[in-house]
Amino acid sequence: MPANTRDSLSKAKPLKDRSEEAKIAIKIAADLTDPPEIVREDLLKTHVLKMESVELSHWYGDNRVLSGISMPIFNNRVTAIIGPSGCGKSTFLRDLNRMNDLVKIARIAGKILLDGQDIYAEHIDVVQLRKRIGMVFQKPNPFPMSIENNIAYGPYVHGVKHEGLDEIVESSLKKAALWEEVNQRLKDSALSLSGGQQQRLCIARALSVQPEVLLMDEPCSSLDPHATAKIEDLITKLKQDYTVVIVTHNMQQAARVSDYTAFFNIGELIEFDRTKKIFANPERKMTEEYISGRFG
Ligand SMILES: Nc1ncnc2c1ncn2[C@@H]1O[C@H](COP(=O)(O)OP(=O)(O)OP(=O)(O)O)[C@@H](O)[C@H]1O
Ligand SMILES: [Mg+2]
Repeated sequence: MPANTRDSLSKAKPLKDRSEEAKIAIKIAADLTDPPEIVREDLLKTHVLKMESVELSHWYGDNRVLSGISMPIFNNRVTAIIGPSGCGKSTFLRDLNRMNDLVKIARIAGKILLDGQDIYAEHIDVVQLRKRIGMVFQKPNPFPMSIENNIAYGPYVHGVKHEGLDEIVESSLKKAALWEEVNQRLKDSALSLSGGQQQRLCIARALSVQPEVLLMDEPCSSLDPHATAKIEDLITKLKQDYTVVIVTHNMQQAARVSDYTAFFNIGELIEFDRTKKIFANPERKMTEEYISGRFG
């Protein structure tokens, strides 16, 4: 059995749970309003395309885990990536801001464009790139320092002088819907926050350097339903200012927060479309089977 399939089977939820979840997700998606007309009419015009992967393949050593992925990422929209465990979602997400450069055995072919420019081109400054494309991980990972320093650190490293930092701390915490809860304790350790607060702090930290794109890898998977609802609300608001790509195992979450959904399986992009279409009326049988909880 291929490693991918083995991983999928070992981490898969019981099918009964999945199909219950799926029914609700399909219902949520059916109630969605479509993104504004202009997006659909201009679907492939450059001005709404923030990023694009073009025939992207990815290997770890000899193991090819992504095969020729071509998909758009639209500006000021939320794109969800769904698919069984081990299908390459996180790998794809990490390729979008060259986080996989840190993995020695990782190698890619194809292109990833940001505003039409190849982010893997030789002249690209990776530190600047990651400032433009921020990332939030599955497990909240605040730095072991104060709440305010968690936020101030990035802008400081990027050259903001001390005088400007307080304002950035406040505005970033407000954008991440955390200011009200922490403004009296900014000097406390970030590790004293609850899990949901820590994750919003990590979002605030990502926003503090004014990124254009925010990548989120299962940002709610370690959170309770209340904290999850807060993050989902936040994601919906963030798309006014940012382009968001979120990996999620939770179908209902994909249906609730995203405008577009990409379904991956065993390293391939099986289907990409408006979220409503993917959930209500997918083109491919495999998508329908996954959405309805029949595998994965
Ligand atoms: N650093 C690495 N070195 C070698 N193989 C890796 C590495 N990271 C991931 N892989 C392999 O690449 C494949 C895709 O992994 P990836 O983490 O992208 O999947 P995923 O879709 O995010 O899965 P999950 O839903 O479980 O998070 C898997 O077979 C995995 O074992
Ligand atoms: Mg993953």
